[in-house]
Amino acid sequence: MRLVLLGLPGAGKGTQGDLIAQKYGIPHISSGSLIREAVASGTPVGREVDSYIRKGELIPDGLAIEMISERIGRADCSQGWILDGFPRTVLQAIALDQRLAQIDLDVQMAFDIRITQEEAIERIAKRRMCSKCGAVYHLEHYRSQNQNVCDNCGGELYRRSDDTEETARTRLVVYMKQTHPVLHYYSMDGRLYSINGQRPIAEVFADLDYYLQRLVDAQGVGEAR
Ligand code: AP5
Ligand code: MG
Repeated sequence: MRLVLLGLPGAGKGTQGDLIAQKYGIPHISSGSLIREAVASGTPVGREVDSYIRKGELIPDGLAIEMISERIGRADCSQGWILDGFPRTVLQAIALDQRLAQIDLDVQMAFDIRITQEEAIERIAKRRMCSKCGAVYHLEHYRSQNQNVCDNCGGELYRRSDDTEETARTRLVVYMKQTHPVLHYYSMDGRLYSINGQRPIAEVFADLDYYLQRLVDAQGVGEAR
């Protein structure tokens, strides 16, 4: 299974990516998480990309493509992957298709998880993340049992550096300008599936899963590399 999750910041790509990974046993690869890990580890690449993230701008295409190319080449991706946050420009989408075509593979489904801009701002302002396992919470809808502590691993919850209202607004503008055209790219050959993301998490997942089941029925998970 080779899937791409698209949608505004806060649409629920990370939340749904985790659920798909749990059900189908394929890795959920978030480009944003990979970038935040690089920043945290203080590598030269991490230092280079930190300022882009803080401002809510995209990191250069070349760096993003290299990072994802390396990640999907690892052994745990032999049965497929879920990409969350990549591709984010048409150039990245073309690069991904070209890389996969070299090994006779393709992106099978791209999901557009749709929410309004107002909902995006509200969710981002109230999101908290686990500093250890990356689990995602919301101060109202999906709270941890103990404030500031992750239910899964006991890690401390934090607010992302780009989750301020000002940066969130920049991210929305960047999305509409640079990422929205990617929807058109995948719709042109029938790979785009539109999902209403403004409902409870389980309902959004049920919609996604309807299409994933069709993929499984057509190919079998094992074969749907
Ligand atoms: P990235 O980390 O990808 O951020 P994003 O796209 O802005 O998306 P978010 O992670 O903010 O939202 P999400 O859709 O994952 O929502 P979530 O599930 O957390 O990218 C960060 C930055 O990295 C970019 O700005 C850029 O600088 C850089 N970058 C990344 N990839 C790049 C690339 N390919 N090229 C260049 N630069 C790149 O949910 C949000 C909140 O809502 C949570 O609190 C959650 O609990 C809650 N929630 C989820 N679902 C629901 C629901 N159904 N109902 C109510 N609440 C919900
Ligand atoms: Mg995310």
